[in-house]
Amino acid sequence: MKPRLPSLAVSLLVVLALLPATVGSANAAPASTPAPALVPQPSSEHALPGQSVSLDRSSRILVPQGSHDAVSAANYLAQVLRPSTGFALPVTIGFPRRDDITFDQWGAASLGNEGYTLDVTRGGVRISAHASAGLFYGVQTFRQLLPAGVEKRSKQAGPWTIGGVRISDTPRFAWRGAMLDVARHFFDVGQVETYLDELSMYKINVLHLHLSDNDGWRIDINGWPRLARYGGSTDASRGPGGFYTQAQYGEIVKFAAARHITIVPEIDAPGHVTAAQASYAQLNCDGVAPPLLNPGYSSLCVRSEVTYQFLDDVIGQLAAMTPGKYLHIGGDEALTTSAADYTYFVDRLQAIVHAHGKELIGWHQIEAADLTSGPVAQYWGTAGSADDVALAQQAKARGNKIVMSPADKSYLDMKYDAQTPIGQDWAGYNSVSDAYDWDPATFVPGIGESDIDGVEAPLWTDVFPTISDVDYMTFPRLPGIAEIGWSPESTHTWTGYRTRLAAQAPRWDALGLTYYRSPEVPWPAAA
Ligand code: ACM
Repeated sequence: MKPRLPSLAVSLLVVLALLPATVGSANAAPASTPAPALVPQPSSEHALPGQSVSLDRSSRILVPQGSHDAVSAANYLAQVLRPSTGFALPVTIGFPRRDDITFDQWGAASLGNEGYTLDVTRGGVRISAHASAGLFYGVQTFRQLLPAGVEKRSKQAGPWTIGGVRISDTPRFAWRGAMLDVARHFFDVGQVETYLDELSMYKINVLHLHLSDNDGWRIDINGWPRLARYGGSTDASRGPGGFYTQAQYGEIVKFAAARHITIVPEIDAPGHVTAAQASYAQLNCDGVAPPLLNPGYSSLCVRSEVTYQFLDDVIGQLAAMTPGKYLHIGGDEALTTSAADYTYFVDRLQAIVHAHGKELIGWHQIEAADLTSGPVAQYWGTAGSADDVALAQQAKARGNKIVMSPADKSYLDMKYDAQTPIGQDWAGYNSVSDAYDWDPATFVPGIGESDIDGVEAPLWTDVFPTISDVDYMTFPRLPGIAEIGWSPESTHTWTGYRTRLAAQAPRWDALGLTYYRSPEVPWPAAA
């Protein structure tokens, strides 16, 4: 016979069972009602033991009358849920029932445009935000509350039951980016759109496209047709290359905007320009076009006016097709440009960007020029590189914000470890825990939280010809960078994160996404 528990202990257990589980604090959730494993970790998340919602064939997605933003978020959610659940899930107006998902736009303005609340209670599911981005992020969190089979594109058995939870969430940083180098190897519109879908699951809100480099020029520019047609005709593997027409670039911008992702296009200059110089002899100081894929460093002809007519056309057309505030001008590794020429060049390019109504971002070397207070410096130095640190401090001194992309933490082209079959190692290995376990607000001496706009994870594709190479290097590190960008520093622990990250794998399996099953992460058995 079991011993009887004293009544005080019984009531204590009852009280404990009723207490909300607090994530990221000492009050761990009772084992029977674990808080859902979410990435990025929301700023506040409480499990509601004993409450749940089951979606079924009568479930609806409810929106307030006249709310265009709620209808877009609701339609996006319906597209995710309908194929796998097989439910009709009409997007409609009505009084909420316990199996409905209800959107409203009465969320607290204090959570900002990207913040939201998500409640799963016995009364149903409610996603509330004050702006459309918040509603979209509420949808992304809700996806992760459902069983992983929801990500399949064919009808699954269910049941579609979600445990009770109360989430209130808002991001730490405004800039949560990824960069895809489509210059070294070209990825077509469909591949970029799939990448955008993957990024959006982790609340990434910037995709920086590296559109030009020595190995290829990937955007059509009116008046300079050989840039894309000749300069884009090959790649770092001597393959066929490719480029985006302006209409295709517009499609990418629109697809990204529907996922609350801003495209930041990069034209790298004054270095990394062989593809452009091979296309037009007048972009070379000696008037002679080098061959495509000419090895070594390159530089535009800095004291020639043709260079600035060229850049004015390129920047003007990019500005017209890019709704975001920023154009990326590169500025890295201008190793054959003198210091005086570099400053002259960046100053003139800054004026061109401003004349077209945009602000510039560049790799942190641009801080060597005479910038105004508006530009953003993208820091790609490693820990402890004195020259890079000095330029970051120069950025701060003139009021430029910094996006943190330290190569030894955020570069997705670095190998995970010595066994990784593909990738680079010049900045060292970048394991899943390395990529997660750092704080952008303490990484560079003298650069703190308020000096930083956010984080970005660049993926240089010199040695990655296929999109599955790209995915293998991106996952599972990108969600860690996304969490650094989104979640409060107080929730940041590798031991907690690795378990939440492991819970993402069945979703990637359901989506057919290639990823690296790092031994650092306690993955569930593959399906
Ligand atoms: C860079 O990795 N050259 C910015």
